[in-house]
Amino acid sequence: MKIISVVGTRPNFMKIAPFIRAIENHNREAAEKIEHILVHTGQHYDHRMSQKFFDDLQIPPADIHLGVGSGSHAEQVGHTMIAFEKVVVDENPDWVVVLGDVNATLACSIAAKKLRAKCCHIEAGLRSLDMSMPEEINRLVTDRIADLLLTPDRLSGANLAKEGVPDKQIKFVGNIMIDTLEEQRDTASRLNIHSILQQNMLRENAAVPAIGEEQYALMTLHRPANVDHREILHPIIEFLTLEVAAQMPLIWPIHPRAKKQLENLQLWNSVENAPNMVLLKPLGYHDMLRLNSSARVLLTDSGGLQEECTVLGTPCLTMRWNTERPITLKDKGGTSVLVGSDVENIRREFAAALQQPRTPVRPELWDGKTAPRCLAALLEPRAH
Ligand code: UD1
Repeated sequence: MKIISVVGTRPNFMKIAPFIRAIENHNREAAEKIEHILVHTGQHYDHRMSQKFFDDLQIPPADIHLGVGSGSHAEQVGHTMIAFEKVVVDENPDWVVVLGDVNATLACSIAAKKLRAKCCHIEAGLRSLDMSMPEEINRLVTDRIADLLLTPDRLSGANLAKEGVPDKQIKFVGNIMIDTLEEQRDTASRLNIHSILQQNMLRENAAVPAIGEEQYALMTLHRPANVDHREILHPIIEFLTLEVAAQMPLIWPIHPRAKKQLENLQLWNSVENAPNMVLLKPLGYHDMLRLNSSARVLLTDSGGLQEECTVLGTPCLTMRWNTERPITLKDKGGTSVLVGSDVENIRREFAAALQQPRTPVRPELWDGKTAPRCLAALLEPRAH
């Protein structure tokens, strides 16, 4: 069997690592080997957004690089489709595997299906119902055309069933990102917080503050809804710099998109000069996992971090008005709460989170064994 799998951005890398490991394990034992081709679209290209994750997670180098880079959504999707179409024609795979909800997921599932290649979507069925999110469009289109939909939780399966996807195309496998978390937990736990800060300070010669376990807040922010408009971003930045950082150090590994927007909106100065604000470059996987494991509270608009907080028990303020991952919410048993971009909400829930004890939660099948289940689903005769 020949499988092509596709990655494009940072959140794809922690999902592909265990899948490749599952293929390697299969090939060690099974008589019928799997030929695997890894394609990197190149949407994320900075060393810290891409290669660092290949190194940290021991992902073999991509076999094919499409070199798509930055651009508008149409440019990214269009260039990826054109380049990936050639790969599918040349390789004629049995399966194309796409992950998550990024532009690579959309572009490659469409290109594959138009060539009548079979397509499998890992992390299918998540829905925010927010059509202003590019990721929601990517999820909807990919799930509508893929042949095999592997879901991380039962709510996602129910979403797909509601949309009319036949039962036999859906398989509940669990959350593949948690495979990586479980595999890398020990390595991360051996890291020292001070050394992480020292190696990743955004300003290379900045003084490194002494910060202890459970004594800091951690944040990430990059979504267009939060960082593209001054009237939304400005009050958030004021709250973070004047209120959060007044109570405890606030560690912020900055996504390139957020930094660019802060500069464009003339907010960079107030962030850069705020006392107690610890600005870092984008972090590698182990560094982020280590900081998350000991943060008092995490503020984020990332999807993956909400899930990691659930398993680690870190109280999480999700700076969005909706989530495609409701299983991570407190009222569904998780550790996160939706606060949107409203400072009143964020202030109230920040205070509540500081009172919340760290309570790790493990949703069904988030057991570190999802990748072998994904591979088994692909190998099952009924899926062919
Ligand atoms: C993408 C994903 C998003 C995911 C996020 C995680 C889509 C639609 N969105 O958003 O779901 O949560 O990745 O990181 O695919 N840039 C760099 N260096 C890089 C990568 C990007 O400087 O290595 C810059 C780009 O020039 C661009 C901006 O950052 O201006 C945003 O990058 P882009 O690839 O458009 O999407 P993300 O916002 O990262």
